[in-house]
Amino acid sequence: MIPESFIQELLHRVDIVDLIDAHVPLRKAGANYAACCPFHNEKTPSFTVSPTKQFYHCFGCGAHGTAIGFLMEYSGLGFVDAIKDLAARVGMQVPDDGARAHDGPRLPALNELMARASRYYYEQLKRSEKAIAYLKQRGVSGEIAQRFGIGYAPDGWQNLAAVFEDYSASGLQQAGLVIRNDQGRLYDRFRDRVMFPIVNPKGDVIAFGGRVLGAGEPKYLNSPETPLFEKGRELFGLPQARQALREKNAAIVVEGYMDVVALAQHGVGNAVATLGTATTGVHVQKLLRQVDRVVFCFDGDAAGRKAAWRALENCLEALPEQKSVTFAFLPELEDPDSYVRAHGTAAFERLVAQAMPLSEFLLKELASRCDMTSAEGRARLVAEAKPLLARLQTPLLRLQLVKRLAEASGFSQPEVEKLCDLKPVARAAPARASRPAPSLFRPLLRLLLQKPELAVRLPLEALPDDSGEARAVMNLCKVILSMGDPVPGYASLLERLRGGEDETVLREAAAELMQQPFAEGDVDDEFDGAVVRLVEGQKKRAFARLQEKVGRLGVAGLSSEEKQEYLQALGMRK
Ligand code: UTP
Ligand code: MN
Repeated sequence: MIPESFIQELLHRVDIVDLIDAHVPLRKAGANYAACCPFHNEKTPSFTVSPTKQFYHCFGCGAHGTAIGFLMEYSGLGFVDAIKDLAARVGMQVPDDGARAHDGPRLPALNELMARASRYYYEQLKRSEKAIAYLKQRGVSGEIAQRFGIGYAPDGWQNLAAVFEDYSASGLQQAGLVIRNDQGRLYDRFRDRVMFPIVNPKGDVIAFGGRVLGAGEPKYLNSPETPLFEKGRELFGLPQARQALREKNAAIVVEGYMDVVALAQHGVGNAVATLGTATTGVHVQKLLRQVDRVVFCFDGDAAGRKAAWRALENCLEALPEQKSVTFAFLPELEDPDSYVRAHGTAAFERLVAQAMPLSEFLLKELASRCDMTSAEGRARLVAEAKPLLARLQTPLLRLQLVKRLAEASGFSQPEVEKLCDLKPVARAAPARASRPAPSLFRPLLRLLLQKPELAVRLPLEALPDDSGEARAVMNLCKVILSMGDPVPGYASLLERLRGGEDETVLREAAAELMQQPFAEGDVDDEFDGAVVRLVEGQKKRAFARLQEKVGRLGVAGLSSEEKQEYLQALGMRK
C-alpha cells in the first residue's frame, strides 16, 4: 500500500491543468478549463478541469477523476504506475512498499522481462525463413508485422536461456515465459510458434499468443494470467487501433489475432480481438469509453453465434444510453480474416455497416428458442427475456426492447412490463418528479467538498440513516476527519474514496459544484443554514416517532425519558 499521506502530498504538488494540457490542449472557460473530451467522441467541449479542486469532469460522458485517475484512464496505467509516473514528474520518490503490488518479483521487473523476450522473438522472425514464409502466405506484409510486433519463437527447449542471464529466475516463470515441469526441469513455453505480443495501452507487452506454423495442437498457445495480464480485461490490437477508433468512432470486435492483423492489412484499423475468452463487460466498457459504436463480428458458425450471444449477455449491464452495440455475422465457414481477403475491404465494411442492432439480435435469438406459433411459446419468449431486461440500466433501450417484445409476443406493452416485473418506463418519470423537495444532503455534500474544514462542525447524529445521500454525507465527514491535518482537498478525498459506494453521488456533487460553486463569503452561512435545517429535521422525525407511538399505545406507553422528550417537543411546538 502506498501511504495515504504520500498520495495527498503528490496531488498537492502536481497541477492537473498542466498534466492534462500536455495531452489534451485546454482553454480557459470561466473559472475552469475546457476541451473536447478525450474519453468519448464529441464536437463541442464538455470536458472540464477545475484548477482549484484539481479534478476533471466530463459533462458528456461522466468521466471524472484526479490527476491519478486521468493518467490511469488516458494512458491505461494501473493505480501504482500512475502514482509513480506522477511522482517522477515532480521529483518525488514513491515509498518503497508501494512498488510491490504482489508477492515475488516487482511488476517493473516482469515488464522488463516481457519486453526483452518480445525483442528477442521479433529479431528471430527476421532469421526464420519458414516463419516469414508462413506470414507471407497468410498475406501479412512486413509493415503490418512490424506494427503488431509479430515475432517468432524458434524451435528448441531453452532458447530463452541465451537471452536471460538467469534462466531459473522465478520472474521468468511468473511472466509465463518459462515452465517448470514435474521433474523440476525448466523449458520455454513458446517453441516454434509465430508470436503475437499483447500490448497494453501504455505500450508494455503483457502477454503473448503463439500460433503453430502449420497444423498442430494447440493452434494458439497463450500466456497464462500473470500479475501483468488478466484476460478478461485486455484486448489484442487496442493500442494499434487507437487512431482508427477515434477516426471512425466505432470499434470492431473479432475473435482472432489473425482477424485483427488481416483487417489492418486491408485498411480496417479499428478492429480488436478478445483473447480466446468471451467478451466481458470490462471489454465493452473500455471500448465504449473511446467510441460510440461497438460492432461484434464473429465467425459465421455455431460457435461464432454462441460467442456473440455471450458477448450480448455480458455487455447488457455495461451498456450506457446513446451508445450502440451491433452484431455482424459472417457467412458460414468464414472468419473476418478469410472474408476480407476473399471479398475485399468494401464488402467487409458493408457487412459491418449493416450489422444487427442488439435488440434485434436478442429477440431473434430468443424467438429461435421458442415455438412462436403457440401462445405458450410466445409467453415463454417474454419469460426468457425477463432476466436480460432486468440487467439493462438504460430506460430507453429497455423501452425499445419491451416494444419489440410486445410486437413479437402479441402481449400489450403494459402486459410485457408486468410479466417482466418492470415498472412502466413512461410512468416512472413523473413519479420521480413528484418526490419531496430537493434533499438537503446534496447541498451539504457540495459544501463539504468545497470546504472540507466544515466537517468538524456537522452534527453527524442528526443525519437520518434511511437515505443514501445522507449516508454519503456521513461517510465523507468521517473520511475528512480521519485524514486529519492538513484538511484534505477534494482530489485527495476522491482518491481516498476510489471505488467506494458513494463515488457516484460525490462525483455528481463535485460536477454540480464545478458549474456553480458557492461564493467564498457564503459558504459558512450556507452551511450553518443547512445544519439548522438538518437538526430541525431530526427533531421532526423524533417527534413523529413519538407521536406514532402515542397514537398506538397512549402516553402511558412511553418510557419516562420519551415522555419528557414528548412534552418538551410539544412545548417547543407551541
Ligand atoms: P480460431 O480457431 O477461430 O482461430 O480461434 P483463428 O483466429 O481463425 O486463427 P487462424 O486464422 O487459424 O490462425 C480464434 C481465437 O481463439 C483463440 C485465439 O485467440 C484465436 O485467435 N484460440 C484459438 C486459442 O487461444 N487457442 C486455440 O487453440 C485456438
Ligand atoms: Mn482464421
